[in-house]
Amino acid sequence: MSHEVVEKNIGLMMVLIVAVISVAGLVEILPLVVQKHLVGEPIEGIEPYDALALEGRDIYVKEGCYGCHSQQIRPFVSETERYGPYSVAGESVYDRPFQWGSKRTGPDLARVGGRFTDDWHRIHFNSPRDVVPESNMPGYPWLANNEIDGEITTRKMRRLRMLGDPYTDDEIAGAAKAVEGKTELDALIHYLQGLGLARSGR
Ligand code: HEC
Repeated sequence: MSHEVVEKNIGLMMVLIVAVISVAGLVEILPLVVQKHLVGEPIEGIEPYDALALEGRDIYVKEGCYGCHSQQIRPFVSETERYGPYSVAGESVYDRPFQWGSKRTGPDLARVGGRFTDDWHRIHFNSPRDVVPESNMPGYPWLANNEIDGEITTRKMRRLRMLGDPYTDDEIAGAAKAVEGKTELDALIHYLQGLGLARSGR
């Protein structure tokens, strides 16, 4: 079939265009449907965030920590020696949205869990230069004064379950109690202390 035939027959051309786009679409979409590791099955040890960590994560997002910190260790020796095992997709399946990022004014935080004590974090968030004199990270002193609203936590967990996160009825029923009396600072630290544990071996 010469090309001229296609050019002069608009009907035939449309059929062929649809065929080409369909094949190209399938090549892109099919792997995501059949190869689960590409969309990220949770790796062993990765669970949905508990109530307090979920709130902590939201504070991380709200305060824009991603503007200076990535949560993605790349598979290079220089990175793995500094931060620990490189990141895999199955670690962020319960992150909406994921916090991989690329801006590193401060260090990567993907494996920061267990690296410092809670007290260190408390001092650091109140005033970073009290523990790291050369730091240019801003302080977040107000986090210690803001309490978490447990009713909102419960609603968030219900929504996340609708999106597929496997929260149990008990976990949702206990959410308000789990965050009762906790401050935004408590939540943020609890979240950070859980980051990366599934692969860092801590
Ligand atoms: C303007 C950039 C900037 C912002 C915004 C920022 N940080 Fe930092 N962060 C830094 C820098 C620089 C360091 C390294 C010096 C230090 O430890 O203070 C750091 C260090 C840290 C560390 C210690 C990590 C390590 O391995 O040494 C943690 C934890 C941390 N930041 C968490 C946060 C969180 C959570 C937020 C949001 C509430 C945040 N940072 C916002 C720049 C920033």
